[in-house]
Amino acid sequence: MIPLQKPVFRKMLTLAKPYWGLLLIAILLSFIASVLSGSIAWLVKPVLDHIFLAKNYQYLNFLPLIVVAIFCFRGLSAFFQAYLMRLAALRLVNDLRFKLYAKILKLPLKEISSESTGRLVSRVINDTTALEPVLGDMFRTLMIEGLTVITLVAIALYRRFDLALLALTVFPAVAIGARKLGGKARGARSLAQKEMANVTHQVTESLQGLKEVKVYLQQDYFLRRFREKLILYLRHLLRVTKYREGSRLLVDLMTGLGGALVFTYGGYLVIRGLMTPGDFFSVLTAILMIFSPLRRISRAYTGIYDASAALERVEEVFSLPEEKSGSYQAHPPQKGITFKGVSFRYNEDLVLKEIDLEIPAGKVVALVGPSGAGKTTLVSLIPRFYDPTSGKILLDGKDLREFDLFSLRALIGLVSQDIFLFNATVYENIAFGKPGASREEVIAAAKMAYAHEFIVKLPQGYDTVLGHKGFNLSGGQKQRLAIARAILKNPPILILDEATSHLDAVSEQKVQQALEKLMQARTTIVIAHRLSTVTKADLLVVMDRGRIVAQGKHQELLKTSPLYQELYRTFTLAAANS
Ligand SMILES: Nc1ncnc2c1ncn2[C@@H]1O[C@H](COP(=O)(O)OP(=O)(O)OP(=O)(O)O)[C@@H](O)[C@H]1O
Ligand SMILES: [Mg+2]
Repeated sequence: MIPLQKPVFRKMLTLAKPYWGLLLIAILLSFIASVLSGSIAWLVKPVLDHIFLAKNYQYLNFLPLIVVAIFCFRGLSAFFQAYLMRLAALRLVNDLRFKLYAKILKLPLKEISSESTGRLVSRVINDTTALEPVLGDMFRTLMIEGLTVITLVAIALYRRFDLALLALTVFPAVAIGARKLGGKARGARSLAQKEMANVTHQVTESLQGLKEVKVYLQQDYFLRRFREKLILYLRHLLRVTKYREGSRLLVDLMTGLGGALVFTYGGYLVIRGLMTPGDFFSVLTAILMIFSPLRRISRAYTGIYDASAALERVEEVFSLPEEKSGSYQAHPPQKGITFKGVSFRYNEDLVLKEIDLEIPAGKVVALVGPSGAGKTTLVSLIPRFYDPTSGKILLDGKDLREFDLFSLRALIGLVSQDIFLFNATVYENIAFGKPGASREEVIAAAKMAYAHEFIVKLPQGYDTVLGHKGFNLSGGQKQRLAIARAILKNPPILILDEATSHLDAVSEQKVQQALEKLMQARTTIVIAHRLSTVTKADLLVVMDRGRIVAQGKHQELLKTSPLYQELYRTFTLAAANS
């Protein structure tokens, strides 16, 4: 009826394929439960006609037993059916989450940054959760209650065809009314969900920026906005309740109407002797019993609609293009890395313009330039975090895009500008650089990065847990860990983005020495605001507003490049002050 729901069913069925055995048993059990429900309405006739009216009281002895047995079997079938369905649903949703997370990890950075991280996370956690009741609950409701309705209708029709048909004339009114009200309820519900997302966003945001909120005395402002959103949320939800309960009211009214029709026409038939009282009550029971499963079906239907919106969002992620990998195995550079007419844009404006650059194998190239010149962007093209918008980058003459992505990235060590430490121990954070590294190797790397001294002073030394709910490190300490990580990886290509910017003058000197050792016989690209690194580089590249404005040795550039002269003056000033 509602076009959106078909794909949900189809998709859920494909996803459910591995569990069809479980589902088959569950369906069988739900069939048994429905038949047993129907049999209650069926039993009314023999009990009335053959026991009470014919005064066959001997049957009364085992009748209670039959009733107990029916309810017992119905209960057991429903129990196991629900359990198995739920099992299948939970497994299926976990499968889906796993696939979704794997997919997200394969997305290019460009896709990730154009989506907000919060929304991606919400897709892995919330949207998949919204799908779970479809199989575990709503599918079951539709199936079990659908079968119950069919059985009940069949019994009513079998008992007395015309009377049953008369009672069923109220159905179309129920269906149309429920659909209308259901549509309105869904609209209000999606508004409520959006408002809840806003509420969540605001709470997280104010907690992340709590220092700012406190020092700029913004508590009242946030509280006021919070209250406004909560009130909106409440209004939407009240409307949902109004429509949902309205449709329930409709069902009740129509049930009454259906019952009244059965009483009028059926009573006439019974009095005229055209129908037995047993048939009459059997039809009446069946008609009255139909409505509560019908109500549950309509509720399940609404739930499936909500789920289909969630599934659409999940599918959107699955349809995004993944990072493209070539097939050649990458080897450590023999000749070097070459940028040929490389331009690049994140969104609108070109951030790199027509970059031509030769990074010779085994040499140190330093990038300098004002903030926002495009230095970080340039180096992030080498591990293919992004691909050039035009032009190409070659490793020993072959386009980076032709290499197997894993083998290319395996060659590269990176100490980035914004260092990220994982919620794991110090040891694990360093060992990240080389899976399977021994404890000795990790400690040796930490020593080389001048990180060992502060690590052993941490509460649990190398086993101190960092990050989220863990120990916080200072900027300089983080930097030394990141350097240790890169040292441990021992990569042929090393990218250092302001690797020593957070260090005090003494530590910087030490780390600098370590890095210089590390740079030997390695292809290194180093971005630095500090003098010492820059002057020793084999090649200096001066960038400004996305272009390379000059390149050469320190002494040459001092003579030829005005921008470099200016940068050099600030370098010297900074060095003198520290
Ligand atoms: N993920 C991104 N999405 C959109 N624009 C970006 C992104 N990262 C950087 N930019 C833009 O690209 C330009 C170059 O930024 P980049 O980080 O490469 O400069 P930088 O030379 O490293 O500067 P700094 O010395 O301050 O680190 C800037 O104008 C910046 O606003
Ligand atoms: Mg930068």
